[in-house]
Amino acid sequence: MKVFAAIVAVLAVFSAPGNAVNLAEKATELGLTDLVSNLQTAGLADAVANIAAGTVFGPTNAAFAALPQNIKDAIAANATVLSQVLQYHVIASKVMSNQLSNDQLAASLDGRNIRINIYGQVITATGAVVSNADNEADNGVIHIVDSVMLPPDFTVTNYVVNNADFSTLLTAVQTANLGATLDGVGPFTVFAPNNAAFAKIPEADLNALLADIPKLTKVLQYHVVSGTVYSVGLSNGQEVATLSGDKLMVDISGNTVKINDATVIAANVNVLNGVIHAVDTVLMPPEAPTPTPTPIGAATTIQVGLFSTLLISLLALLM
Ligand SMILES: *[C@@H]1O[C@H](CO)[C@@H](O)[C@H](O)[C@H]1NC(C)=O
Repeated sequence: MKVFAAIVAVLAVFSAPGNAVNLAEKATELGLTDLVSNLQTAGLADAVANIAAGTVFGPTNAAFAALPQNIKDAIAANATVLSQVLQYHVIASKVMSNQLSNDQLAASLDGRNIRINIYGQVITATGAVVSNADNEADNGVIHIVDSVMLPPDFTVTNYVVNNADFSTLLTAVQTANLGATLDGVGPFTVFAPNNAAFAKIPEADLNALLADIPKLTKVLQYHVVSGTVYSVGLSNGQEVATLSGDKLMVDISGNTVKINDATVIAANVNVLNGVIHAVDTVLMPPEAPTPTPTPIGAATTIQVGLFSTLLISLLALLM
């Protein structure tokens, strides 16, 4: 009799509440309490709870806590921004993790696409790593993510246009006429050298590079990878094929990611057509001459010097 009662109790736990948990209740059950309270603040909790079928990429409380202060401030100051960010985490259909594919785009309630990537066993949603997938509720599924997903505003080109740190890169992209390409569908991964990176190149060499369109094009293509590679998709010793046809070498040690001899100084900037990683050094494809080839002037000087030495030797012989 006791055993029977226990079985009934166990069945009750598994059936009744299990069948009546909506997405909002499931989020609470999973400990995503900051997500739920933010949904309530934005007036979206009922919409998520009552959606016919939905997929929620649910950031953990730690993910909300880890948002940069300027983003926290922007969200706190503007209810529209909070609403957009939260709606960017929801798809209006139920999508289990085994239905996701690499570089898949899924329309969010915000209107902008969530970009799915799969790197081996790791799934990301606009760069946020799915740490716990397929938590089913009555009306959908929750995939827990380890960061808050920020909907992108810009394409690669527009990001470079709107960011003063990349004005030299913008000049280079415009000179090589690659702006339209990097404004296109892509997707692209761009290792973007900032102005300080270009400033490492001697001015005469940089001007020569900007004047040599075929070489400039190849150098810029060497910074672009087809497909979206967030940093979690990079591994130590990996070789990454670029649009120039040459490969980049990835070197990861601790928290430092190097691409050839360039260090990534800002990773995982979401853009509408891929991802940008800012680097501190311009990457030079292997076939291209080194950034500081021996200038013709220097070679001439050496010859003059050699000639003078010979002349002095001859004069010495004559005397
Ligand atoms: C709030 O953000 C939206 C979307 O970015 C923007 O259009 C709007 O002007 C902002 N409102 C205020 C008061 O800043």
